[in-house]
Amino acid sequence: MMEVNKIYCMDAIEFLKKIENNSVDLIIVDPPYNISIDTWDKFESKEYLKWCNEWIDEILRVTRVNGSIYIFGDFRFVGDIKVLMNEKKVFLNSWIVWDKGTKAQNSTRSFINVTEHILFYIKGVIKDLNIPTEINSVRDYLREEKNKSEYTNKQFNFMFSELYNKVGCRDRSVIEHYFSEMQWVFPSKEIYEKILQKTGYFKRDYFNLKKEYKSLIYTFNIDDIRTKRNPKDKRVFRNDRQLVPNVWYFNVKDEMAKINHPTPKPLEMIKNIVKVSSDEGDLVLDCFIGSGTTAIACKQLGRNFIGCDNNKEYVEIANKRLIQNTLTKLNSENISPPKPKGMGIRNGRII
Ligand SMILES: C[S@@+](CC[C@H](N)C(=O)[O-])C[C@H]1O[C@@H](n2cnc3c(N)ncnc32)[C@H](O)[C@@H]1O
Repeated sequence: MMEVNKIYCMDAIEFLKKIENNSVDLIIVDPPYNISIDTWDKFESKEYLKWCNEWIDEILRVTRVNGSIYIFGDFRFVGDIKVLMNEKKVFLNSWIVWDKGTKAQNSTRSFINVTEHILFYIKGVIKDLNIPTEINSVRDYLREEKNKSEYTNKQFNFMFSELYNKVGCRDRSVIEHYFSEMQWVFPSKEIYEKILQKTGYFKRDYFNLKKEYKSLIYTFNIDDIRTKRNPKDKRVFRNDRQLVPNVWYFNVKDEMAKINHPTPKPLEMIKNIVKVSSDEGDLVLDCFIGSGTTAIACKQLGRNFIGCDNNKEYVEIANKRLIQNTLTKLNSENISPPKPKGMGIRNGRII
């Protein structure tokens, strides 16, 4: 059994083989790009993709259903990795372009490459952004209760019409959406409890129902990474806070200056990924952890991590950085309850 909050010095595929099925909430993969940055970054093209396919199959096995996977890549091979991923049971949520803010190089024969790419996937087949097709127990429950109550959609709409303004629902048909196949939405607490009062059905506790619903959808805490709206941005938003586009600007200068690793990722960028795609107490895995950026982000944000790198010196660097970053003490007490689909941690071990 593997211990969490630990970095192993071992080969990525060997390491992944030791991790339980469906046990990880978020995977961050920053593999060798095969662009000869270092000795570990050189492969024959065909060998490279074959090897990528091996770790891809392993990361898909260990991620929980609706868990998130971020794969970093360079323009030379990221397209090939996407082609490999097209064959898997995953949903491509976003293709993020990271502008590294690197200084202009002396290139007069090509466009200057200042970007890297991040493919963000959700494990599972998802019909639209909200409803995984594989699991919809919460929606089924609401529909069954509605059928038992024998009220029609029209009657529901009529009974609850006076509530719409109070709870900010502008769409009169919204109650129908709680029971529908298309555009399904999870009810607000106010309406759910009123439905119970008026019909005597829908007796399941709202809090527990919501907890189950949250575990069935993928985590996307976008509010945790929104910044104040840029006044120059003329697009119309519903509130004052900036939407988060798929072009990211993070400078890697600080990390490059301080860390003895050729390709550290900016800590703030990895923290944004961890914040948006995991909750406190979740398990985050990085199987090419290098200088330990993912581990540090997790430690600062109260997530559990597990990682590996096959280079002993990098593992030492990562462990040193971890000791210096003692902001959040992780222990098995602040770990959230196990997810359905097999995920769990007990006494610092994955079960
Ligand atoms: C792009 S770097 C990751 C950098 C990391 N994200 C950071 O912020 O420091 C890729 C890492 O993969 C490691 N690596 C290469 N081949 C490996 C393998 N077969 N198993 C495990 N790690 C490997 C390298 O030692 C290197 O540290």
